[in-house]
Amino acid sequence: MGTFAFLIHPLSLEDVARYEPGAKGKGRAIIEKILSWMPVWNTAHISGVRSRATGAEVEGWFITVPLMPEHFVTMPREEVYGRILTGCEMAAELGAQIVGLGAFTGVVGDGGVSIAERSPIPVTTGNSLTVVAAVQSLLRGAHEMEIDPREAVCTVIGATGSIGGAVVRLLGDRVGGMVLVARNRTRLQRFAEEVGSQIAAPVSFTTDVSAGVRQGQLIVTATSSTLEIIQPEDLQPGAVVCEVSLPHDVSRRVAAERPDVLVTEGGNMRVPGEPRFMRVREQGEEFDLGLPPATALACMSETMTLALEGRYENYTLGRGIQLEKLIEIGEMAARHGFELAGLRAFDVAIGAEQLARTREAAKRARLGRAVGGSAGS
Ligand SMILES: NC(=O)c1ccc[n+]([C@@H]2O[C@H](COP(=O)([O-])OP(=O)(O)OC[C@H]3O[C@@H](n4cnc5c(N)ncnc54)[C@H](OP(=O)(O)O)[C@@H]3O)[C@@H](O)[C@H]2O)c1
Repeated sequence: MGTFAFLIHPLSLEDVARYEPGAKGKGRAIIEKILSWMPVWNTAHISGVRSRATGAEVEGWFITVPLMPEHFVTMPREEVYGRILTGCEMAAELGAQIVGLGAFTGVVGDGGVSIAERSPIPVTTGNSLTVVAAVQSLLRGAHEMEIDPREAVCTVIGATGSIGGAVVRLLGDRVGGMVLVARNRTRLQRFAEEVGSQIAAPVSFTTDVSAGVRQGQLIVTATSSTLEIIQPEDLQPGAVVCEVSLPHDVSRRVAAERPDVLVTEGGNMRVPGEPRFMRVREQGEEFDLGLPPATALACMSETMTLALEGRYENYTLGRGIQLEKLIEIGEMAARHGFELAGLRAFDVAIGAEQLARTREAAKRARLGRAVGGSAGS
């Protein structure tokens, strides 16, 4: 049987309690203390992932690296790499033949390149399938909100990143215009000039997130920010935001203040077979991934797909993902039965009724703007 492991880490203090039930009900200071004592640990066993094409099954493990997003960017790099490598070594000892680097374990430093050089088993960030899922998710959102992508400006926040850069290339011939956003101006300008000659959409760029958000009817956000950077005031009436970043970039205020805006979590996929995520320490208890049943992140799904294919090789690493890889992993995942999960935002599913309300609110808000009203009113 094919085997895989995937490194996870808490994105918030609530996550720490979800991963480690002993932290439930404790105050912030105690949770932070618990976190600093925690070793890397084998958290969940995954079984029942079955290919729709071949009937083959794979099993795997979620291994927790007990660091919060801000630790990955503030702690000494070698210390962080050391923790991640402990996770890779544990994965190999458990029998995994490939390991996926979840969230900031795949972001820190050079996006998995250094880890892959030192890991006993092959490594992937899972970012290729994440890009494919994000683009599908954005286009589904545009369709639901009656936006023709060819007529729309698309803003990509985190455009110079591993995911953002590939999203720009994949969407570049399908949208009316592209606005690229990141903080480092030199890198952003260089990327805008390079990609501008390769895609059909006219390209502009800005280091001002608010200015970038204000220009886009369609927005993809894939940054390594640990703070919420997309605010309700900046969003166009009826905009669609595809949120890939973990932790989230979109302010929770958007849910309350912008009923006309459709936010979708861009990287969730339905897993084929009867997948079970079970806690290792608390025998018989399910591990709550914070997603609907039989659903995983696209980066996890990439790791599972590679195990189903028997492709035990370093797959997605670093920035500059090749288009061929996106096509290949998209086809492999679809063949095995991975599908885009249902629409979801702010940790809850978006039903047909809510979607209809959002569409109506968007029509009113766009009309309001056309006659001089303010966005979202
Ligand atoms: N949903 C999923 O399945 C899934 C899968 C994998 C990864 N992810 C998440 O996706 C995100 C991106 O991952 P990645 O591997 O593409 O990261 P990456 O290669 O490090 O790229 C991050 C990008 O964000 C930009 N950025 C960082 N902080 C910013 C800020 N405050 N404002 C504007 N731009 C900012 C960076 O450029 P500058 O430094 O120049 O600003 C860069 O362009 C992460 O949050 C990760 O956890 C989600």
